[in-house]
Amino acid sequence: MKYRKLGRTGWKVSEISFGAWAIGGTWGKVDDQESLAALHRALDGGVNFFDTADVYGDGHSERLLAKLKKERKDKFYIATKAGRRLNPHTAEGYNRANLTAFVERSLKNLGTETIDLLQLHCPPTSVFYAPEVFGVLNDLVKAGKIRHYGVSVEKVEEALKAIEFPGVQTVQIIFNILRQRPAELFFPEAQRRQIGILARVPLASGLLSGKITRARTFARDDHRNFNRRGEAFDRGETFSGVDFETGLRMVEALKAFTPAGATMAQLALRWFLEFPAVTCAIPGAKRPAQVAENIAASDLKPLSPATKKKIGALYDAQIKPLVHHYW
Ligand SMILES: NC(=O)c1ccc[n+]([C@@H]2O[C@H](COP(=O)([O-])OP(=O)(O)OC[C@H]3O[C@@H](n4cnc5c(N)ncnc54)[C@H](OP(=O)(O)O)[C@@H]3O)[C@@H](O)[C@H]2O)c1
Repeated sequence: MKYRKLGRTGWKVSEISFGAWAIGGTWGKVDDQESLAALHRALDGGVNFFDTADVYGDGHSERLLAKLKKERKDKFYIATKAGRRLNPHTAEGYNRANLTAFVERSLKNLGTETIDLLQLHCPPTSVFYAPEVFGVLNDLVKAGKIRHYGVSVEKVEEALKAIEFPGVQTVQIIFNILRQRPAELFFPEAQRRQIGILARVPLASGLLSGKITRARTFARDDHRNFNRRGEAFDRGETFSGVDFETGLRMVEALKAFTPAGATMAQLALRWFLEFPAVTCAIPGAKRPAQVAENIAASDLKPLSPATKKKIGALYDAQIKPLVHHYW
């Protein structure tokens, strides 16, 4: 495992880290023993950064990470998120009373006195034009409730606006072979300001593992079943907003670029590592074998310029017209 600097935090985090949404819920059946085994496998492989949220399984994912902390002596960082417990999810809800209450609840779930990194959880766009929200976050840092804060966003423009607030240390954004726009405007600006970038949905909800076939069915409580058109939350969070058939065709075309001895998931993850602006990818995984496969991407040789160019051309031809300008 290799490590990269996370913005100005002074932390060095594993370039392949761990996304803990799936082990919390909304991804079909999960088994806590297996989820914990996956978390242990991640630590064994050098992962030292875990992304979760207070709403993943209504805190279940945070509590699993608290359990991991009890069971291991290794030093690792946990990033959580706040805001999505609001119902309705409005900009006005991002106020001092609510944010403080969400943080207190996460502190309890995580069994800690200070949250390493708190991220606003894809708030409405107008929150990025509300300096008072970032003032509350500064106060939470001063009070020792959180060490650092950042944002998780849907759109490039929200990311660009968010990093105008000097306290913002990190931006979490969807970036993968099927979602390349963040690299255009946002990455250079984030690098200039030394912002850590957490690349989420790196496997396009599993599609880029190459193991999902047309015949695969998804459980009723799996968002890959119920959110393909954005019925429950932003449609970009499910298969990166690419329709299932188009995604499968793209995956077929990408197979030709999988390095010898490697898997498609590893190609998809190695692809990130070619972007120095990205601090880490945070693939989700429910089983130790998936973790082992994913983190091994850190040991692969860099992709050749020709391969990168061809992947770029495939994106331009097959995917860009469908997603590029939406996020
Ligand atoms: N709004 C937000 O802030 C937001 C939104 C989305 C995600 N996130 C964060 O980003 C993280 C990653 O995104 P994601 O979990 O949505 O999507 P992802 O990482 O693209 O896909 C994860 C899923 O792919 C499958 N998978 C993983 N490794 C595999 C392997 N080696 N072989 C085959 N299948 C594999 C697993 O599902 P199956 O085994 O069930 O197929 C896994 O749950 C999340 O866990 C969360 O921490 C944040």
